[in-house]
Amino acid sequence: MAEHVIAIDQGTTSTRAIVFDRAGRIVANAQKEHRQILPRPGWVEHDPEEIWLNVREVVGLALARAGLTRHDLAAIGITNQRETAVVWDRRTGEPVYNAIVWQDTRTQPIVDRLAADGGVDRFADDVGLPLATYFSGTKIAWILENVEGARERAEAGELLFGTTDTWVLWNMTGGTRGGVHATDVTNASRTMFMDLRTLDWRDDILDAFGVPRSMMPEIRSSSEVYGVARSSSLLRETPISGILGDQQAATFGQTAFDAGETKNTYGTGNFLIFQTGEDIVRSRNGLLTTVGYKLGDQPAHYALEGSIAVTGSLVQWLRDQLGFFSRSEEIEQLALGVPDSGGVFVVPAFSGLFAPYWRPDARGAIVGLTRFSNKGHIARAALEATAFQSSDVLQAVVADAGVELSELRVDGGMTVNDALMQFQADILGVPVVRPVVAETTALGAAYAAGLAVGLWSGLDELRENWREDRRWEPSMDPEERDRMLRLWHKAVHKSMDWVD
Ligand code: G3P
Repeated sequence: MAEHVIAIDQGTTSTRAIVFDRAGRIVANAQKEHRQILPRPGWVEHDPEEIWLNVREVVGLALARAGLTRHDLAAIGITNQRETAVVWDRRTGEPVYNAIVWQDTRTQPIVDRLAADGGVDRFADDVGLPLATYFSGTKIAWILENVEGARERAEAGELLFGTTDTWVLWNMTGGTRGGVHATDVTNASRTMFMDLRTLDWRDDILDAFGVPRSMMPEIRSSSEVYGVARSSSLLRETPISGILGDQQAATFGQTAFDAGETKNTYGTGNFLIFQTGEDIVRSRNGLLTTVGYKLGDQPAHYALEGSIAVTGSLVQWLRDQLGFFSRSEEIEQLALGVPDSGGVFVVPAFSGLFAPYWRPDARGAIVGLTRFSNKGHIARAALEATAFQSSDVLQAVVADAGVELSELRVDGGMTVNDALMQFQADILGVPVVRPVVAETTALGAAYAAGLAVGLWSGLDELRENWREDRRWEPSMDPEERDRMLRLWHKAVHKSMDWVD
């Protein structure tokens, strides 16, 4: 009986394949990192061919570790880093340029050019997003404007665009021999080109960016059969039936399906999503309006999102660029070696500041240094920065939604860090709760895929799978919390306006 689902999580730093059973438990897991290509300050690229190779490798490894074959799989789900843009030749399958990653800020001049006529919120009413380098739209425009011959080839209908879900789907279903060129509503809602109401591409916005519609994938729901894995592959004939951008997938995996439910994921960056049901809610406090999920032909569910560019990648930066430690886990020990941050604050504005500030001109800052400061203080301040940034977006959610949160569901790699989770609860003043399966991103994609093929009966059955693993109760004195938040905000303001 095919009672398992394999989820492919194509993330910013690695690609994983995870096999789940019907109870939503992990049966096997495989992961491979890919190169971060950093050609210039602010530029971040990935090699799409390397990513596709890694997808195949981790799928093979996960199946071998599970001791399963494709006959045991009911479906394949895909989840992905969301705004990273790939453009390739539909005939040869060759990318015309490396994937331009969501963190990349090279397109600021394109943003400025488009914003000159109507401001950064020029398209926000229709697409839910401000003009920013973060979203895939300006990245496609950059490729068409800067890669020799790309514009002509795009206009002749020779090139295809996709976020990495689309890149994986197209290759997996046949590539140059009939690959399916599609994406789901959640990924489409991060391009700047999809109208949130009609869930279709907007010709006028595509025109403003100079992107031909023929490059764009078909927009489908998050849970339906898009195609089957090609006959020559390990997964041959297995339906691919779930696609969700990774943050929406994590929300789905947390079974936060209904309006008012929320989650915060601690990955390369942090992403807090607050479901708003079938209502499209506009933020007045720097959050994005995005699609939460859409199951088959049922109506779309929307969400507000607080996107923070740099949290876990700050730990990597301390490891790789400053040599503070050799393994990321060691940050906790280093941070706990001091009783507090000694008055040090780190503002990791490496890609400017995203939500709720949206300040591309902000730059990273370490403030409050004295002769007394050591590596432990900086490590501690780096962890605290993750919690402070999440507090800022949560305050924006509270202001937009007009409701106080009673607890925060968390997931992602950094939630193994006990000191960080305790500090998060302290600084928010609400309990922080982690589920048993903290791999909620892959789980959400597996759920969407399994629902489409009838492996699960519906959302209630999925809710029953959610189990609490750990809860952190706030214990900080409110006055101390206010003092720390006040200093944090001072530090944030120091990081702004740095660029000449
Ligand atoms: O919006 C960017 C987000 O989708 C990337 O997530 O987990 O790959 O850092 P992650």
